[in-house]
Amino acid sequence: MALIKVHRQSIQPGAVRSQPPFTPTQSCPKCVAMTLPPAISINNLVKRYAPSGNGEGKLALDGVSFDVPQGGIFGLLGPNGAGKSTLINILAGMVMKTSGTAKIWGFDIDRDMRNAKRSIGIVPQEIVFDPFFTPFEVLENTAGLWGVAKPLRRSMELLRAVHLEDKASAYSRTLSGGMRRRLLIAKALVHAPPVLVLDEPTAGVDVELRRQLWELVREMNNAGVTVVLTTHYLEEAEELCERIAIIDHGKLITNKPTRELVEMAREKIVVLTLDRDIGALPGNPAFLKCAKAGERVLEVTYDKDRTNAGEVMALVQGQGFAIVDVTTREADLEDVFVSLTSAAKAA
Ligand SMILES: Nc1ncnc2c1ncn2[C@@H]1O[C@H](COP(=O)(O)OP(=O)(O)OP(=O)(O)O)[C@@H](O)[C@H]1O
Ligand SMILES: [Mg+2]
Repeated sequence: MALIKVHRQSIQPGAVRSQPPFTPTQSCPKCVAMTLPPAISINNLVKRYAPSGNGEGKLALDGVSFDVPQGGIFGLLGPNGAGKSTLINILAGMVMKTSGTAKIWGFDIDRDMRNAKRSIGIVPQEIVFDPFFTPFEVLENTAGLWGVAKPLRRSMELLRAVHLEDKASAYSRTLSGGMRRRLLIAKALVHAPPVLVLDEPTAGVDVELRRQLWELVREMNNAGVTVVLTTHYLEEAEELCERIAIIDHGKLITNKPTRELVEMAREKIVVLTLDRDIGALPGNPAFLKCAKAGERVLEVTYDKDRTNAGEVMALVQGQGFAIVDVTTREADLEDVFVSLTSAAKAA
């Protein structure tokens, strides 16, 4: 995948940035990523927005610290108002932090904002661009703002990469919502940053376009770009991201490999349709929850480390019921997300 040129291997975090040529990704980028310095490093980041009237102002980030490893797709999740966009906008230099530090590709955003900014491409949550320019012109203008010399510009290459080559000369206002999002991704890559951050890339996008955007994110990542994305779609995060951080009310509540996070979901649910109406609910210490989901439908939640669906069914049969139908549901990232965010709320 040579469509996207990035500077991943050629810029050492902390080094002075130049415009080096593209070097192909190494044979095992995920293994290499484990030994490389982080792509983004956030330490005790605090943001309190200025109050609009009397009062203290909104504490949007309350001492958040985490690292984004190089080379992967990192998910930043959290409910509405958690502080995700605030964090991203601080990295983009669009929001002033109150305290704490952040480094992008080794460059401190206070001490070396210029290089920090050059190392990151941001696709904002809101779609904004001038509707009177064509996609090609949008990319050329952005390249001009970044000071990319004409011979080094790659506007058509980027349009090809986001599958908008045939729209190069169309007015941007004629693009569909999904096309606009793809154009914003190309715009964020104009200066060949090693890190791409997408704030809610698939919000309000239909299923088909969402799939296309996922594919695009994967392509960018395969080309060597470290990707950070925020999303409300948990199945999206589960499918795309190797690692997930969850923030809630401005605090980091978890930061783990996706696999570990999903494994935290120990609950399983078995739904049994029985041969007759349920009177008293069958009880057992191995059941975490047992509830009627209909006159003859029983929903049993159990800890998969303590029992299994076969034993649950045997227990119900042991109480004189015959089982007519059975379905099971594995807890997923959504369950973990809900339990972690509700635990944070209760704390
Ligand atoms: N410019 C601002 N002035 C004051 N408060 C703000 C400002 N921007 C955001 N906030 C507040 O800061 C908190 C975090 O907002 P932020 O936009 O970072 O959340 P988010 O996690 O991106 O939410 P969403 O999922 O809805 O996009 C919210 O309570 C929000 O109302
Ligand atoms: Mg947001």
